[in-house]
Amino acid sequence: MTQFASIAGTGSYLPAQVLTNHDLAQQVDTSDEWIRTRTGIVQRHIAAEGETTCDLAEQAACRALQAAGRSAADIDLILVATTTADQIFPSTACLLQQRLGSYGCAAFDLQAACSGFIYALSVADKFIRSGSHQSVLVVGADTFSRVIDWQDRATCVLFGDGAGAVILQASSEPGVRDVRLHADGRYAELLQVPGGISQGIHLPDYAGPVGTTQMKGNEVFKLAVTTLQAMVGDILAANGLQQSDIDWFVPHQANIRIIQAIAKRLQLPMAQVVTTIAQHGNTSAASIPLALDTAVRDGRIQRGQNLLFEAFGGGFAWGSALLTY
Ligand code: COA
Repeated sequence: MTQFASIAGTGSYLPAQVLTNHDLAQQVDTSDEWIRTRTGIVQRHIAAEGETTCDLAEQAACRALQAAGRSAADIDLILVATTTADQIFPSTACLLQQRLGSYGCAAFDLQAACSGFIYALSVADKFIRSGSHQSVLVVGADTFSRVIDWQDRATCVLFGDGAGAVILQASSEPGVRDVRLHADGRYAELLQVPGGISQGIHLPDYAGPVGTTQMKGNEVFKLAVTTLQAMVGDILAANGLQQSDIDWFVPHQANIRIIQAIAKRLQLPMAQVVTTIAQHGNTSAASIPLALDTAVRDGRIQRGQNLLFEAFGGGFAWGSALLTY
């Protein structure tokens, strides 16, 4: 009998410190009006000094475990999607395992920038469908504020920090129905943090800034809209579903105008779209599980409803998922 992965519980965590558009307008040449109208963002949360990705992940994971009625000992795989790991190694997943005390189970990180959560969801789904694992903790967590040039108004207004988590449990009923992953490395230079470990942080052939997010925003915007519009149509068609079968669209929260364009393609009213971008900004791998947990906890998302996720980000890497909650 096929074993499906179903969501047993969700959790999320945002650092306490809030940075508003008005605060940012004191630091760089921008305005609340510009940021709101171009992006839909009003504020974002920023990790305190010394507060790490693993700290955020731990809080989100504990809340998801509690919501699922599980203990850490029940978990047999930990996946952390992040671009901002605490250390080069061990993985943030291993550091998180140490905090949770679920010693011995498999644990690893996965990096697919803003699409990290969908990529991790896909991996977890496949582990569960294969029958090898029963209870998987999937966390999307990022302290993106650490890879931002806070003098660059074109990027610093967009991002925030946070974490979201789900417990996926083996079940005879779906659950995750389909996950589709894509990438095209030819677009690497449109959205990147140049510099790294094997290249070194100082790049001899690169004159631009290193260690912070560099983005050609306009080109990313256009490619994100066309790619995502095609992808959401494809996943519905491949599963024999209509737009009207979707109860909730839970998109990656990068820009409200991107989200509105996809919702329009789906002919879904914005009342059926979960948006947290105003309060959180773009939290990278945390964005979908944060939005999911928000709508589960406020009672909008109910058991038995159909959900559609999509994400797009650096790589480019993008993906979509269809689930029944
Ligand atoms: N405040 C005020 N002005 C700003 C600004 C800011 N924070 N950031 C950029 N500008 C200026 C630009 O310098 C430019 O000025 P110019 O016309 O004098 O050169 C002007 O605003 C328009 O810039 P442009 O980049 O064309 O604006 P836009 O409408 O495309 O919006 C983004 C910019 C970044 C909001 C938009 O392109 C976007 O959201 N892109 C996708 C980013 C994204 O989602 N990345 C993550 C993917 S996971």
